[in-house]
Amino acid sequence: MPETSAIIKAWQTRFENILPGYLPEASQTPRLLLQAMQYSATAGGKRIRPLFVYASGRALNLDEDKLDGIAVAIELIHTYSLIHDDLPSMDDDDLRRGQPSCHRQFDEATAILAGDALQALAFEILAADATLGGNHQQQIAIILSLAQACGASGMAGGQVLDLASLGRQISQLELEEIHAFKTGALIQISTVAPALLAVANGRQTDALSRFGKLTGLAFQVFDDLLDVTGTSAITGKPSQADAARSKPAFPAIIGVEKSIQRAHELRDQALAELKHLPGEIDTLEWLAAYAVDRDR
Ligand code: IPE
Ligand code: IPE
Ligand code: MG
Ligand code: MG
Ligand code: MG
Repeated sequence: MPETSAIIKAWQTRFENILPGYLPEASQTPRLLLQAMQYSATAGGKRIRPLFVYASGRALNLDEDKLDGIAVAIELIHTYSLIHDDLPSMDDDDLRRGQPSCHRQFDEATAILAGDALQALAFEILAADATLGGNHQQQIAIILSLAQACGASGMAGGQVLDLASLGRQISQLELEEIHAFKTGALIQISTVAPALLAVANGRQTDALSRFGKLTGLAFQVFDDLLDVTGTSAITGKPSQADAARSKPAFPAIIGVEKSIQRAHELRDQALAELKHLPGEIDTLEWLAAYAVDRDR
């Protein structure tokens, strides 16, 4: 059997290979918009959400051929969230995935619209893609869950709370709530969507849901840490950006050491959820460990 890390690497390659086929040709009209969508979507990135999709599928004995549409849709929502996150009215960051942010490479209006169009494309894929197998009930359940995860009660809601926290003193609990919304929700749907497709039993779906939620929160705690301890050349985004904006983030609230401890504690809680799943859980374990021990 291949090593766990080899499976992860193969999924990364798989994802980079299938992604372009889901994007409209940049030579078509409106060219500027399509170029901006391509630019941000194909800029690389860790692809951790697609990896969570494939890994959850593996834990449910679900064929990865059935998961490509879901993996792409979630990554496109994530890419849209990053484009908007970098806008001057939000985090005002000029560097993303080692390249000029979308609004710096193009212009602000194009970046806003590229984000909008990527979001719409994600739902178009979930509604129409053949990899989902035409199981309409499951498709609707996945579309509903993704809409909830990225809307007012998920990522977008969390982003509003994040911006409202600027310059304020907030508690660790409040920060964890913001992080769970703005980042946790999209990682949680990455682990839940395969269970919805597989029509997994309630126990299995709940376990994957809790695992995704805890890992997603841990992932954002570590993102906060990387802002302080990471290197821009490796993270591909500005360093010390949270403090520069007086944004409450984990290291600022409880310090670097305690933030690392909290991330590890969340990882351990997440790992404890990985029982009662019918398939291999090695890649989920690998991803939970990676979420809190990474350099970018
Ligand atoms: C960055 O996400 C924003 C957060 C939600 C923490 P990632 O760290 O997954 O960014 P990419 O996709 O690898 O660029
Ligand atoms: C972003 O959080 C969360 C999103 C929903 C995009 P951050 O603002 O901390 O992400 P980075 O550090 O810019 O990648
Ligand atoms: Mg932000
Ligand atoms: Mg940001
Ligand atoms: Mg950050």
